[in-house]
Amino acid sequence: MANIHDVAAKAGVSAATVSRFINSSGYVGAKTRTKIREAMEALDYVPNSMARSLRTNESMIVALVIPDVTNPFFPTVVRGVDDVASKSDYRLMLFNTDGSKRREENILSVLAQTRVDGVIVIPSETVGDAQITDFLEQQRFPIVLVDRVIDFPQVDCIMTDHYLGAYQAAQHLCGLGHRRIAHIAGPRRVVSSEERVKGYAAALNDFGIPVDQSLVVHGDFTRYTGYGSLDSLMNLPEAPTAVFAANDLMAIGVIERARELGIKVPEDLAVCGFDDIEYASIVSPSLTTVSQETYRLGKLSAQLLLRRIAEPDCEVRRIKLKPNLIVRESAARVYQHTLGRW
Ligand code: RIB
Repeated sequence: MANIHDVAAKAGVSAATVSRFINSSGYVGAKTRTKIREAMEALDYVPNSMARSLRTNESMIVALVIPDVTNPFFPTVVRGVDDVASKSDYRLMLFNTDGSKRREENILSVLAQTRVDGVIVIPSETVGDAQITDFLEQQRFPIVLVDRVIDFPQVDCIMTDHYLGAYQAAQHLCGLGHRRIAHIAGPRRVVSSEERVKGYAAALNDFGIPVDQSLVVHGDFTRYTGYGSLDSLMNLPEAPTAVFAANDLMAIGVIERARELGIKVPEDLAVCGFDDIEYASIVSPSLTTVSQETYRLGKLSAQLLLRRIAEPDCEVRRIKLKPNLIVRESAARVYQHTLGRW
């Protein structure tokens, strides 16, 4: 069986040029393309991925469905998935639902009729969501759930321990002496958001602080809802001295609005986020946050999927990665004007 080097020799080009031609991963001149095509035909050469697809009826394509392509958290997951998939000759098909159930429903129905070999899904909503459950039950191909995982025992899944991460964030703020700690949660019915509300409440309870529901508001994981939530929180009869936002984008929105209101972070208001996106250490003040192993979420989810494709009956894996509190300037131990203490 001819290989890529035989084709290169016959066409009088390098193996790298042949690889670029096969994978459409770079410029190859028209004359060279013709020479390579003629050499492949003469040698009856079929590229690996194409050969495998013909032999096993696999498409060599996997799909990844994410909720928000503009949030830096998700492209990092995509990077991890693609690095693993491409090493095994799989192409990645990416879908963005914009957190819309309608869009997600449309994408899942398209996927059900598409020749993909497997699907990795970060659902837009999952709490009690029949749509995802139906899709999983009808699963015609291997599926891996990531990040926002529902209790579906037959499906491989991987997520961060959202509850523990939120507990760590609120515990840190309590440890700084804060007793009026607001929580800007993510969207309702999203597991990562709901688990963080529980972790926040548990930490306050452990410090003997009753949860004041007026201090818990829901955003949509974008900077704008973090920005927009601060005014109403600061206008409460007893304003918060700290804010724990359920993701970094909302936390950055809070810092942006605090600056406009003349509120110093952290002296007047401590701020903590969740995700540890690339910009968390660059914004000013640098963001205290809970880091997720985001790239590893993507890498491991792709490994779980390729494993399921190769061994459909292997045991189901449910992986929970540990979060890690990263203390930076926005909620560091400084003299807290609002508390009158260090
Ligand atoms: O920033 C987006 C959030 O949605 C992240 O915290 C991630 O866990 C996802 O659930």
